[in-house]
Amino acid sequence: MLSYRHAFHAGNFADVLKHSILTLVLDYMIRKEKGFHYIDSHSGAGIYQLTDEYAQKTGEYKDGIAKLTQQGVANADLPEALAPYVTLINQLNGNGTLDVYPGSPGIAKAFMRRQDSTHLFELHPTDIKHLEDFCYRWKKVFVKQSDGYQGVLGLLPPPSRRGVVLIDPPYELKEDYQKAVNTIIKAYKKFATGTYILWYPVVQRDLVEEMQTNFTNSNVKNLLQVEFCLDNDTDEYGMTGTGLFIVNPPWQLAQQMNEVLPYLKSKLGGNNSTFTVEQLIKE
Ligand SMILES: C[S@@+](CC[C@H](N)C(=O)[O-])C[C@H]1O[C@@H](n2cnc3c(N)ncnc32)[C@H](O)[C@@H]1O
Repeated sequence: MLSYRHAFHAGNFADVLKHSILTLVLDYMIRKEKGFHYIDSHSGAGIYQLTDEYAQKTGEYKDGIAKLTQQGVANADLPEALAPYVTLINQLNGNGTLDVYPGSPGIAKAFMRRQDSTHLFELHPTDIKHLEDFCYRWKKVFVKQSDGYQGVLGLLPPPSRRGVVLIDPPYELKEDYQKAVNTIIKAYKKFATGTYILWYPVVQRDLVEEMQTNFTNSNVKNLLQVEFCLDNDTDEYGMTGTGLFIVNPPWQLAQQMNEVLPYLKSKLGGNNSTFTVEQLIKE
């Protein structure tokens, strides 16, 4: 089943949280000269036109990234930890109106250096073509139309022993919740010092709790969980919140998110919105 298209959701509140964290992780990785691998198991199209029919149909970005940037200028009260992300979006748009939004490969492209390599997996026949076009002329990028869960495991450990893995499935199938966690548990056995970022939607709270339990019963150490919910949990269908598990986060990420999340709540959230930053498993 490949009906999910990220173009409908690009730049929404969930992307804002995911991509601001990805930006902070990559920003941290390039502080050292030594090269690293960036592996994206579910890459999407690479970059999105917010003016196209998909983004305009849902208008989700208007309640997300559009609230953090106006005419190419970041809001004056922007926390320092959000600045790299918002600056990147503004630069991509030529500091003009908000027309394009980067997917995770688009964020990565802004950070990767000559000594780093990027590995992108995507299954959708249309999005893989967009992704290949986006990666044209990008050196040391490897794009594959194959299963990202297997792809991640096949690349670990990276020769440099430095790596960031993003796992960002569409969750069209319930099995994605456990498959994503199990992939990290297996990957961690091969490469325990890597940084793993796993995105999830809050649609059914019990599915998130099962992910937490699976992690806490595993050998994985140093796990941070960050969550931002617009609404209370509900039994009705729909995404009320979003979160990420981050294994081996940069040491200051929890503190940075404690600065970012009150701001996101004030700009993107309503009265019912909540956030948490929790060290779920100690180092
Ligand atoms: C949530 S989107 C990815 C968004 C992207 N990571 C970003 O942040 O911009 C999920 C993508 O995974 C793709 N996909 C679904 N199952 C996959 C699999 N087993 N392996 C690789 N890609 C898959 C879908 O076609 C979709 O484009």
